[in-house]
Amino acid sequence: MTATAPEIHRGLAGVVVDTTEISTVIQETNSLTYRGYPVQDLAARRRFEEVAYLLWYGELPDERQLAGFKARERALRPLDRTTSELLARLPETCHPMDVLRTAVSYFGAEDPTEDDDSPAANRAKSLTLLAKLPTVVAADQRRRRGLAPIPPDPGLGYAENFFHMCFGSVPDPDVVRCFDISLTLYAEHSFNASTFTARVVTSTLSDLYSAVTAAIGALKGPLHGGANEAVMHMLTEIGDPQRAEQWLDEALAAKRKIMGFGHRVYKYGDSRVPIMQDALDRLVARAADPDVTRKAALHAALRHAMLSRKGIHPNLDYPAGLAYHLMGFDTPAFTPIFVMSRITGWTAHITEQLGHNALIRPLAAYDGPGQRPVPSDA
Ligand code: ACO
Repeated sequence: MTATAPEIHRGLAGVVVDTTEISTVIQETNSLTYRGYPVQDLAARRRFEEVAYLLWYGELPDERQLAGFKARERALRPLDRTTSELLARLPETCHPMDVLRTAVSYFGAEDPTEDDDSPAANRAKSLTLLAKLPTVVAADQRRRRGLAPIPPDPGLGYAENFFHMCFGSVPDPDVVRCFDISLTLYAEHSFNASTFTARVVTSTLSDLYSAVTAAIGALKGPLHGGANEAVMHMLTEIGDPQRAEQWLDEALAAKRKIMGFGHRVYKYGDSRVPIMQDALDRLVARAADPDVTRKAALHAALRHAMLSRKGIHPNLDYPAGLAYHLMGFDTPAFTPIFVMSRITGWTAHITEQLGHNALIRPLAAYDGPGQRPVPSDA
């Protein structure tokens, strides 16, 4: 009797592994919703802090709830001396995502409640990470520029404070708004690779810091969050808008993946792209600088060429990468900025996983050697 070959779902493509109340992509309308609200409406009408609250508590905050939430987040932003010293000792040759991964692991090591997985304890840890991660990212970018860190300002909102800690000043509200929109768009995306990683770790009943540390590792890869940095490297490599088509043809002939294009879930365009592209267009227009105009022209030329050659649409990382560059951030800080936002989605999923936990443990179809005797010692 021959056994039926199991159906293999490489990359878990098309496999539904659990339910979630946090977000979904509605295929018919190609739209992403957080707790039922279309993300483009949240980005247009709400600030990132409100979106974070929505993801964690299921509803948008009222005025009093938002004021309390902001006050708690602002109070938690500073790093203690030991953490700052530890992070400053990491080699500058390491990627900033390594710094962030180490920071989260260290926050866990010094938290006496690390193994308390009650909803209240995990909510407190999530808020701590949301508050402290921007302080780590900003200090690390300044260190690589040979500059001293700038302490957080509790009088500033989440986005404004990040600019303040990076550059010592807050840009005009249009720029802050574009950044805030990017944070809302990056916050959550169902069972993507890094969120699923966090859920796998949580499913073993490990702690929240371990799950987030693992998620940071998953996000770092260029097929996932690392793509926003890779987009900027690619645009720099191409250099001139006139070269876009030829560069693309050569890259496709060499079977290269074009960074910032394609998506496992969206086949007809990432629903987050139009609003981010709009924000990017505003940044380009207000810069009124020939170098910025040239970069934007190259960005558009490559997008058109990719659509006409392969019919593949850009994903969120494509406009976000250039937008972060125009905002003045160093390219290696782009994926860490993604973490500052996605920490909200990851931790919402960790709480949800714990609410109805089942150990995540798939099967594999073995195709190695058949059983054989171990040779006796020579
Ligand atoms: N460049 C070139 N070809 C591509 C690309 C791309 N960016 N994306 C998909 N394709 C092609 C593949 O070569 C493949 O063609 P084939 O069937 O002829 O072999 C086909 O489209 C299907 O692609 P897969 O890689 O199998 O699709 P999958 O769903 O596994 O991949 C992924 C999705 C990983 C995002 C892919 O599109 C990719 O590598 N993109 C570049 C990296 C990137 O931008 N990642 C960011 C994702 S979004 C985010 O994290 C916010």
